[in-house]
Amino acid sequence: MDIIRKNQALLKPNLLDYEKAYKQFSWEDAKNELSYFEDKTFNAAYNAIDRHTQTWRKNKIALYFESEKGERLSFTFYDLSILSNKAANVFRDLGLSRGKRAFIFLPRVPELFYAFLGIQKVGAIAGTLFSAFGPQALKDRLGDSNAEIVITNRALLPRVEKAKASLPNLKHIVVIDSPDFSKRMNKAKEVTHVAHMNWDEPAFMLYTSGTTGKPKGVVHRHGAILMEQLTAKWVLDLHDSDTYWCTADPGWVTGIAYEILGSWANGATTVVYEGRFDPAKWYEILQNYKITVWYTAPTAIRLLMAAGSDLVKKYNLSCLRHLCSVGEPLNPECVLWGQKVLGLPFHDNYWQTETGGIVIANYPSMDIKPGSMGKPVPGISAAILDDKGKKVSFGKEGNLAIKPGWPSQMKTIWRRPEKYKSYFQNGWYITGDRAWEDRWGYFWFVGRADDVIKTSGERVGPFEVESALMTHPAVVEAGVIGKPDPLRGEIIKAFVVLEKDVKPSEKLKKELAEYVKKQLAGHAYPREIDFIDKLPKTRSGKIMRRLLKAKELGLPEGDTSTLEEF
Ligand code: WT7
Repeated sequence: MDIIRKNQALLKPNLLDYEKAYKQFSWEDAKNELSYFEDKTFNAAYNAIDRHTQTWRKNKIALYFESEKGERLSFTFYDLSILSNKAANVFRDLGLSRGKRAFIFLPRVPELFYAFLGIQKVGAIAGTLFSAFGPQALKDRLGDSNAEIVITNRALLPRVEKAKASLPNLKHIVVIDSPDFSKRMNKAKEVTHVAHMNWDEPAFMLYTSGTTGKPKGVVHRHGAILMEQLTAKWVLDLHDSDTYWCTADPGWVTGIAYEILGSWANGATTVVYEGRFDPAKWYEILQNYKITVWYTAPTAIRLLMAAGSDLVKKYNLSCLRHLCSVGEPLNPECVLWGQKVLGLPFHDNYWQTETGGIVIANYPSMDIKPGSMGKPVPGISAAILDDKGKKVSFGKEGNLAIKPGWPSQMKTIWRRPEKYKSYFQNGWYITGDRAWEDRWGYFWFVGRADDVIKTSGERVGPFEVESALMTHPAVVEAGVIGKPDPLRGEIIKAFVVLEKDVKPSEKLKKELAEYVKKQLAGHAYPREIDFIDKLPKTRSGKIMRRLLKAKELGLPEGDTSTLEEF
């Protein structure tokens, strides 16, 4: 197998000797990396932004923003400190207080970033909502969290309005491009009291999907920023001389941990591009902003590869020095494409909404085995366990597990303590992923242990898509699976049982796909639909998605002993 040997001539990596750092690491020592108030409390937003205003970084650019239309803005750490103070004051005026929930439903615009920080400064819990969400997805999340404030814009407002009738606890809808918000921001004081938070108090929450049920609210503590700061330093290798671009959306955890908290805690100059994926535009951003560190996802890399090498040759990407990828399996071909075309390999890393930060990674100072996720970050013990919770030997596949107790381990699942407990077994946190470890301590991803779908790196629960389909009048029931796809990792495929009097047609397939897109989310609709007479179910009535998948892929059906009689 090819091993990519690392040459460290250019810039000394922050993590010089992985093995040594791993052995010597202690969380107690690491806590000194944060800034505390005199009473030993702290605040994540203060650590991301305000503390830099006490140093030479005060006037350093924190955020370069480019809008979809090409408008460019820049913000220093001082600017973001003032803007988030003002936002905190505006939200306090609207009644927001410690522990209450305020959600942001915005595209990647500057207001998203300072609103997020402002909510944390109040001591409230900041939530984010991906801008592709439709009314049903909003209802599920805002309803479950009992959010009191939603921050949105005029373009997205109609979707919030649609969901509002079933959200009795929603008190204020703040529209950032309205005269009211400008007036409030202009009037707001530039100073604020930044809430003194304890380590364990909730800072932000995000909804994510599992196999069953509606999305669940993963809650993270203020202390999570320590993990995010350290991993941004070691894995993303952020230096003061870097210009960093994370292509993720803060509607998902990567955008929160590595576009707001962890990256800014390192004082990184960060680029945010509002627009959608487009190969030429992305190369332009990399070139024009002289990006040095780039954090992206396998689907984007595969789409760039598919766009061809003539396109990439048109751009000067010589400033790039470190490339990272996350979210879904990174094919060895992608790692090698980086090496060949950009002169740099992609460094895969692994984590989840629930882990709150990178837990397994390839580091700049460590040789890469293309196809492997790398080794556990210092402070993390990872293991491969069998179904009874016993460690298996090297090379054997099993359940990927992590020893609990790292700072960005989720604090709880909102209002579902039993769900939270179900993640743990025999003193381990079980990720829900299957993997194996080689003799040298590298971890290799195999697949999900459940029915969770990863499409273009985004996590989608089959139940949510099935439920959305079933609200359509033509549909009796539906079973949804992830179907392997060379570009997107997986695509969503639905098997639909129609009402007796409805005639199946191609037109109806399109209609159903559009319907889910609008109701649920732009990224969570089925790209393929088959009409079938009956869904395979267990005797207790659960859809056997495994069988749908086996049939689709022409694989053996495995154990069908629980299948109900047809
Ligand atoms: C799931 C978590 C990554 C943080 C944001 C997404 C899959 C993640 C990798 C990787 C193979 C990966 C896993 C995991 N995943 N990284 N490097 N290789 N699979 O977090 O939406 O909660 O998704 O993404 O299945 O459980 P998320």
